Amino acid sequence: MGSGDKEAQTISKGRRKRLQLMILFSLLNFCTLVDQGTGFILKTCRISYDIALCVKSNLSAVPLDIPSTVKGFDLSANKISRIQRSDFDNLSQLENLELNRNFISQLEIGAFTGLTKLKKLNLNNNKLFELGENLFKGLANLTELRVNSNRIKTVASTAFESLGNLKLLDISRNKLCHITMVHLILQHLPRLRELFIRSNDLSTFNSWELTNSSIELGYLDLSLNPITIFNITANVFPNLIWLKLGGSSKKHQMKWDVYNKTFLSRVSTLDISELQMAVGDMETLLRTVNSSLRSLRMNVMKHNLKELISISCTIPTMSSLQLRKNYKKINPVGPDTFKMCINVTELDLSENKIRNISDDAFKPLKHLRILTLGQNQLSSVPAAIRNLPKLEELSLNSNNINRLGCDDFANLTMLRKLSLYQNSISALNGCLFKDLTRLQVLKLQTNHISSLNNAFRDHLPNLRQLYLNTNKLTALKRGEFQGLQSLWNLSLHDNQIKDLEVGCFTGLRNLTDILLQNNRINQETLKRNVFKDLINLKRLDMRQNFIKYQYNLFEPPFSDLSRLETLAFPSQSGKGKSQLPPNLLQGLGNLLFLNIRDIQLISLPKDIFTFTPQLQTLDMSSNEIQKLPSELFSPIKNLKSLYISRATLGSLDFLVDANLTQLEFLQARKNQYTVISKEIIKSTPALVYLDLQGNSFTCGCDNAEFIQWVKSNKQTQVSDAYNFVCNYPHNFEGMKLLDFDIRFCSVDVEFIYFVSTTCSILLFMVASCTYHFLRWQLVYGYYLFLAFLFDTKHKNKKSQSQYDAFISYNVHDEPWVMEELLPKLEGEQGWRLCLHHRDFEPGKPIIDNITDSIYGSRKTICVISHRYLESEWCSREIQVASFRLFDERKDVLILVFLEEIPVSLLSPYYRLRKLVKRKTYLNWPRARQHTELFWEKLRQALRTREDLDKDRFLLNVMDRPHEPYSQNNSVV
Ligand SMILES: *[C@@H]1O[C@H](CO)[C@@H](O)[C@H](O)[C@H]1NC(C)=O
Ligand SMILES: *[C@@H]1O[C@H](CO)[C@@H](O)[C@H](O)[C@H]1NC(C)=O
Ligand SMILES: *[C@@H]1O[C@H](CO)[C@@H](O)[C@H](O)[C@H]1NC(C)=O
Repeated sequence: MGSGDKEAQTISKGRRKRLQLMILFSLLNFCTLVDQGTGFILKTCRISYDIALCVKSNLSAVPLDIPSTVKGFDLSANKISRIQRSDFDNLSQLENLELNRNFISQLEIGAFTGLTKLKKLNLNNNKLFELGENLFKGLANLTELRVNSNRIKTVASTAFESLGNLKLLDISRNKLCHITMVHLILQHLPRLRELFIRSNDLSTFNSWELTNSSIELGYLDLSLNPITIFNITANVFPNLIWLKLGGSSKKHQMKWDVYNKTFLSRVSTLDISELQMAVGDMETLLRTVNSSLRSLRMNVMKHNLKELISISCTIPTMSSLQLRKNYKKINPVGPDTFKMCINVTELDLSENKIRNISDDAFKPLKHLRILTLGQNQLSSVPAAIRNLPKLEELSLNSNNINRLGCDDFANLTMLRKLSLYQNSISALNGCLFKDLTRLQVLKLQTNHISSLNNAFRDHLPNLRQLYLNTNKLTALKRGEFQGLQSLWNLSLHDNQIKDLEVGCFTGLRNLTDILLQNNRINQETLKRNVFKDLINLKRLDMRQNFIKYQYNLFEPPFSDLSRLETLAFPSQSGKGKSQLPPNLLQGLGNLLFLNIRDIQLISLPKDIFTFTPQLQTLDMSSNEIQKLPSELFSPIKNLKSLYISRATLGSLDFLVDANLTQLEFLQARKNQYTVISKEIIKSTPALVYLDLQGNSFTCGCDNAEFIQWVKSNKQTQVSDAYNFVCNYPHNFEGMKLLDFDIRFCSVDVEFIYFVSTTCSILLFMVASCTYHFLRWQLVYGYYLFLAFLFDTKHKNKKSQSQYDAFISYNVHDEPWVMEELLPKLEGEQGWRLCLHHRDFEPGKPIIDNITDSIYGSRKTICVISHRYLESEWCSREIQVASFRLFDERKDVLILVFLEEIPVSLLSPYYRLRKLVKRKTYLNWPRARQHTELFWEKLRQALRTREDLDKDRFLLNVMDRPHEPYSQNNSVV
């Protein structure tokens, strides 16, 4: 137990010492710490949340100025050719590292050692040709590694040694030519779930060369390898559920030898696209997955496809069949093609150049729910689909359909999603969607539709999303969408809409998003309160139209859109400047985002935002605003992001009084200010990102504080600050702003820090010493000061003394005072004494009583005992009296020692000791044998001769050498 305690003690002692050292250290280092930080302006990258983004930055080496707190680091698309050992040294928090698309051919051993938290590493598209010894050392927590598209031929046996937690490895598109390489990889990866070795040079796949024990692997992609033998002799893939084989440019056939058909009995998704294999082997293969297969992909097949379809459709579990790019192998789709496919629920026939489908081709597909016929050459909706009563999703996109008939979608009452985009449809009609009562998503974009012909007036009560963009609509008629009472999103962008009839949006009570960008809408179009039915609208986008306001009164167009959160009408065409009417935004009480970029504004009415108190993001870049009044921002206190780039602003001074305390993001590129003042910086306390690119600055002391702040502040990232350039004054033209030496501008800040730090430390030390060694003097000083105050108060009162002596004593000594002192002095000698318990005036403040008593008495007798020293000596009584002594130069104090008090005990009572040294005093214990003499001496001390030199008197009386007690009793 003792040793434990001792240990704890030494530990806490050590800790205390360390703490003291730390405090001292930080005090000493205060000046350097302040100046040390680089904030987080970065030379080439920027930080977004926790991610350092350096994409496409022409970097040839890993930048070293990345803050150590980042969790993501994206170096994609640079020119890095080599990763060095120290490149990621201080990035221990990193979880995601992207090195995709560089020229990396060399990875130094230990380059990733410190990245213990790294989860994902992407080295795709580089020039690695081998993975060397211990390459990934330290990456114990890595779960995803991608080295896709390199030139890897060899793998060292220890390369993957520390990747015990790896779950996904993509080593596709490399030059691995033997399965033993994969063996070297797999032996260290017990947790691997997904392995992609697509597009390498593997020519055999023998399970015993890969592993001799069963592994976790669930996903395996071996496609695009020239594999000639696929031989599995043991149950090494008990968990495999996803397998992709086949496809290779080389002419060869794969031999299939899986010894026991239970070995792949959990595979549920099988992709044998482009697999070249004898029909017999193919049948064996399909029988191997007989009990588990759900999804089969047979794209680009060379076989008699109809036979394979029949074989696979007899697998009872198989429900999803993908048959893309089979062209002539599947065309034309006849009545027998899917004869056996009764259980199929999902059929994908995209990209087959299908022109004709026989009317009963889909008849056997009784359970089909999803049918994809996209990217074919159909010229009308095939009648065959009418035999699919359970169909929920139908894709007919990217065909040549140019007309639609009333019966095209008859009976499809279960249909939820219909894609007809990218066809040649020019008109709709009223009966088209009559049966589609459950349809939720309808895609009609990218056609030639110029007229809706009441297609949406009465039908589609459950439609949520309607895409009509990129068509040829010019006008929307009254009640056009009246049937779409459930609609949420309506895309009408990229048409030629100019005319919005009053009531054209009637019925769209649930609409939240409407996209109207790139049409021909102008301010006249909006005049007639066209949006008034859209009471739930949250987002309205009208960019790239022809809306141009002049500053005049009119009916506000958005006044009924009280739920609107996003309003965008940037980039309006048309000649001339525009000026927004002050009441334009009336009614938009919940607006959060407003985009009025590039609309040729020359100013903004200063109270335009009074209607939008919730506004958080405002983009008014690319206008010729020049000056912004601060009042403009006073109604929008919640503003978080402000974009005012390319606005020909002469300064950012408007920020100083704009009170934008929530502003976090400010983009103000390419304006005309040259100086950023301290006031501007201070005016946005919440700012975390500042983008001032493309301005030219003044290299002068006006910018000194800005430069200092850019370099040292820890909160605001100043984008691209290292590239800020000066063009004034002329001798600094072209110089980088941050290179400007601001030491000329002020007294060396560092020196000030140094001096002030030194001073504080010295002051601290002096204060500690003073406190430690002169504590009591400080206390006395304090009381002395108080006494001085009282004394000044009484200075001018020269009244006749009321008493002969004031007695100061401790309550414990009261018996002596009452029984010895009082009878003697008052009774026998006839002095008039003042005792506080007897003579203090009731009701008067105690301090006044004391001072009045002392000043009202000729003398003060202190009855000194141990107790008196402890409690009374510092009391006000004695202080006032002693002050009077100094002040009036009268000796008013008479000290009577009631007990023997050794000199050592007196030392804390500094003032008393001094008095005792200078004066004499009466000592009661030593006067015991001569009490009469004691009282006589006291009587003499009290005699009214104070006008004479009392010092001498007292000396005479009390210090005469032949007086026994005066000699003996000197404590000095
Ligand atoms: C990393 O792995 C170690 C053990 O391998 C584990 O203790 C630690 O919690 C992991 N760290 C993270 C961030 O996952
Ligand atoms: C597969 O391997 C076994 C065992 O080595 C062998 O007997 C068999 O012939 C191989 N199959 C093929 C098709 O090479
Ligand atoms: C195949 O393996 C299973 C167990 O995985 C076993 O029960 C069965 O007998 C094997 N069949 C043959 C033909 O070896």
